[in-house]
Amino acid sequence: MKFFLDTANVSEIKRINELGLVDGVTTNPTIISKEGRDFKEVITEICGLITGPVSAEVIGLDTESMVKEARGIAKWADNVVVKIPMTEDGLRAVNQLSKEGIKTNVTLVFTVAQGLMAAKAGADYVSPFVGRLDDIATDSLALIKNLKQVLTQYNYQTEIIAASIRSLKHVEDVAELGSDIATIPGSLFPKLWSHPLTEAGIQSFLKDWEVFKQ
Ligand code: E4P
Repeated sequence: MKFFLDTANVSEIKRINELGLVDGVTTNPTIISKEGRDFKEVITEICGLITGPVSAEVIGLDTESMVKEARGIAKWADNVVVKIPMTEDGLRAVNQLSKEGIKTNVTLVFTVAQGLMAAKAGADYVSPFVGRLDDIATDSLALIKNLKQVLTQYNYQTEIIAASIRSLKHVEDVAELGSDIATIPGSLFPKLWSHPLTEAGIQSFLKDWEVFKQ
């Protein structure tokens, strides 16, 4: 399974990348705005820090604007992936961009049908939003499971990025269900390797060692 970092914070990316755990990075306009930095500058810096794909989202809503923005973003780095919203105009843009060899990640996917449309249009990645579906009391895990089954059944190469991940349980659940990738906020990532019993165990071993040495 691949892990992406769902952040544009360069310190977080550097810290977790040093552990060999970062296969890619995803951003969106909200994530970029939190850094208060120039869009192109921050994406270019992240693309230089990691070798994997780095998603940068378009703002335009019509196909022509999306394609124009995407062509510009694609020139920023070899490992940049253009994030396109799941709309009719977005699908048209994805279809055009895939013919030009520009990699895309279709975002804001909430149903199997939307994921299937994105794959068929030529998306390299599709991002179903787990947390936002949970927020409206809808079975987000069924979406991951069923979308994975459908894309595998028809041999699509499109990879599923489980997005809008809010908890350790989400990561474990989407891993069990075969999501190709989970994109995880920087603040949540340390919870993947931490456990209070691990910390308590280290402290008790050290305490016993001190007593033994006396
Ligand atoms: C990543 O691709 C998504 O934009 C992100 O995971 C959305 O997360 P949120 O629903 O917590 O804002």
